Amino acid sequence: MKLFFTSSTQHLKQQFHGLFGSYTLKKFSDGEWYVHIIDDVAQQNVLVIAATNTPADNYIELLLLLDALQRAGAYITLVFMYYGYARQDRIQQPGEALSAQVLAYGFKQFTIKNIIILHVHSELLHNFLNFRNYIPYDYFYTCAQDSDIIVAPDKGAYTLATVIADKLGREALFLQKTHPHQEESVVTLINGNVAGKNVLLVDDMISTAGTIIHASTLLKEQGALRINIAVTHGIFAHDALEKLQQSSIETIYITNSLSQPVLIPKIKVVTIIPWLEQYLIQQL
Ligand code: R5P
Repeated sequence: MKLFFTSSTQHLKQQFHGLFGSYTLKKFSDGEWYVHIIDDVAQQNVLVIAATNTPADNYIELLLLLDALQRAGAYITLVFMYYGYARQDRIQQPGEALSAQVLAYGFKQFTIKNIIILHVHSELLHNFLNFRNYIPYDYFYTCAQDSDIIVAPDKGAYTLATVIADKLGREALFLQKTHPHQEESVVTLINGNVAGKNVLLVDDMISTAGTIIHASTLLKEQGALRINIAVTHGIFAHDALEKLQQSSIETIYITNSLSQPVLIPKIKVVTIIPWLEQYLIQQL
């Protein structure tokens, strides 16, 4: 099986085992992309490892690559290290685009044997696309080793916190998050006691860091000792890194799903590729 990495996953190339496929990617002078498969992939299995974080060029490149591979006769398995637009999976008010569905249409036009998404934001995406959601539990278990309590900052992370807590014999605690405005959050405690405990907050991603900062401020007010964070995807939008550096959070674990050109000392990047490779071997 040949492995194809898009521009957004080049940082992972050296960590995977296998034969690499190659393609020409070039930008015409008007800014449009061009893709041409170099290898012979006819009737061969190929694994495409991509991420569709911004910019939207990452989508265009992936769609063109899938089309070129399909036309060349390859049997495609697609792994999303990050699936962008997944958070826009429902209509909140009339007049909005259902963006998660729109982007899924792009992939549904191809005959793809398997689609695997690394820790998708919500299972609601299954309404629009057939895929398997790979949540890197082993990574979370490792990050949780020296924490007394596992905390979900919002409803979407309840199952994640519960699975980790159950596996390690710890307590799980749930917070509730409301959004007064887009990209703004207010977090409240709905059960449990964190006084005198070391906490691990778990979630799928940090974007603006609003969720995590509000949650950790609340937990500190409630008497939590050390607060660590473990998320799969580090997006770090706007001034998220600055806010995180100034916060009382001790360590922030993220995976290497996305490349991180700039980081701060309290962020630790953990590779999940050995676990992901094991998962792929079992699944494919
Ligand atoms: C939302 O439900 C997600 O699970 C994350 O909690 C959220 O997207 C994080 O975004 P931010 O860092 O901007 O609060």
